[in-house]
Amino acid sequence: MKICCIGAGYVGGPTMAVIAMKCPDVRVDVVDINKKRIDAWNSDSLPVFEPGLDAVVRAVRGKNLFFSTDVAGAVSAADIVFISVNTPTKTYGVGAGRASELKYVEACARQIADVSTTDKIVVEKSTMPVRTADVIRQILSSCDSGVKFQVLSNPEFLAEGTAVKDLENPDRVLIGGDDKTAEGRAAIKTLAGLYARWVDPKRIIETNLWSSELSKLTANAFLAQRISSINAISALCEATGADVDEVAAAVGADSRIGPKFLKSSVGFGGSCFQKDLLNLVYLCEHFNLPEAARYWQNVLDMNAYQKRRFAAWVVKDLFGSLSGKKIAVFGFSFKENTNDTRESPAIDVCRNLLSEGAKLAIYDPKVSQEQIYSDLNIGEEKIPGDGGVEICSSPYEASKDSYAITVLTAWGEFACLDYVKIYKTMKKPAWIFDGRNCLDGDLLRRLGYRVRAVGKSFE
Ligand code: UDX
Ligand code: ADP
Repeated sequence: MKICCIGAGYVGGPTMAVIAMKCPDVRVDVVDINKKRIDAWNSDSLPVFEPGLDAVVRAVRGKNLFFSTDVAGAVSAADIVFISVNTPTKTYGVGAGRASELKYVEACARQIADVSTTDKIVVEKSTMPVRTADVIRQILSSCDSGVKFQVLSNPEFLAEGTAVKDLENPDRVLIGGDDKTAEGRAAIKTLAGLYARWVDPKRIIETNLWSSELSKLTANAFLAQRISSINAISALCEATGADVDEVAAAVGADSRIGPKFLKSSVGFGGSCFQKDLLNLVYLCEHFNLPEAARYWQNVLDMNAYQKRRFAAWVVKDLFGSLSGKKIAVFGFSFKENTNDTRESPAIDVCRNLLSEGAKLAIYDPKVSQEQIYSDLNIGEEKIPGDGGVEICSSPYEASKDSYAITVLTAWGEFACLDYVKIYKTMKKPAWIFDGRNCLDGDLLRRLGYRVRAVGKSFE
């Protein structure tokens, strides 16, 4: 069997590496139009940082896993083609700011139609709006080569930072297909058979296409909703003296609720939650369901409020002005253990602090300077000695002479720093704003810091 995956990003790369490892007799080609990305996948410095990924790629690359820019060649040879390209929120035209941009998916479908000479199963891997499979089907069925295609939806549920673990041991694998025809059912079985090599068949769920597409959007919306719910409570905790971690632990102990995704924070980020919620809102409005649309929009509004609230603390506690003050930023990725910054709350918080005249000193163990400047829209010409944003190679350098430390990503190393040493180098009063509740606030207070943390009362 030959598999091809179009798109060598955060989803395509790790997913295919794990499939190749679990299925040594299957040839897996990962292709992308971005040569720089493919070169990186073929180098010792992978474009995606994921714990455990280097070892998996090293074990199978060049054996049954190949990265290349030959999209046509790999698609043409494959039995199964995964589409794993980006589906960002549209920035213009109908549905701008909410609907998903499907031009990359459409381009893939057209290319598959153009180069295929043998029958293929085409699998939507990226998160797609409901009924995208129909778009792909229409394009594929309009080619007159006589080649037969089956379109399946097989959304990826991996979370960044734990991708390899999630892929090796998924809660479930969802496969949606045309369950009304024998060919459709056979395609579902073929893909299910691939996963069954390492996933318990009881965890492989088969549905119709639209249920599969909508389940992925719904799963992300529910997860995001839990975070917004606990974040709404965090504001109330700060006002009343309750502690949000204690509330979350007590609430999550109810087996009907469960403990996961109740960690209050400066807000959720990542490439999926916001995009998928916007998509869901757009879908509800499209089907004239304004109440349902408003409900999901509120989850996003709460997230924006949480980010604004955090930046407002910093301004207020630093006596209402950040003008010319150095602020250390610990962490820029949207969560720990990834170098991905898409929709990272750090971007909004940093922009907000910069608009108040702060001088930011940013440290992140995995995000590149180039990426941070690009996210903050800082042009190349401004980089040397700009004063606005400085990228630091250690948290000690970032905090030296700063008025405050803002913790925006829960990288493990931030809990283990020498805060006695850091305190001595900071301006006084030395502030710490913990946007991830990942530091020991009581200890820091004893060392002399003033500490504010999400959902905790200020003492
Ligand atoms: C998410 C879904 O979890 C995954 O199933 C889907 O395939 C893609 O979208 P991801 O965005 O990679 O995965 O990471 P996730 O762990 O869900 O975190 C998303 C954001 O929520 C991060 O910014 C994280 O810091 C934040 N978060 C998560 C919280 O603020 N509190 C929590 O309790 C959990
Ligand atoms: P995700 O997080 O969903 O994996 P990424 O943006 O990390 O998203 O990756 C998507 C990849 O898809 C990018 O590397 C992009 O270059 C690639 N891509 C987009 N359109 C095409 C196409 N038509 N052919 C091949 N690759 C494509």
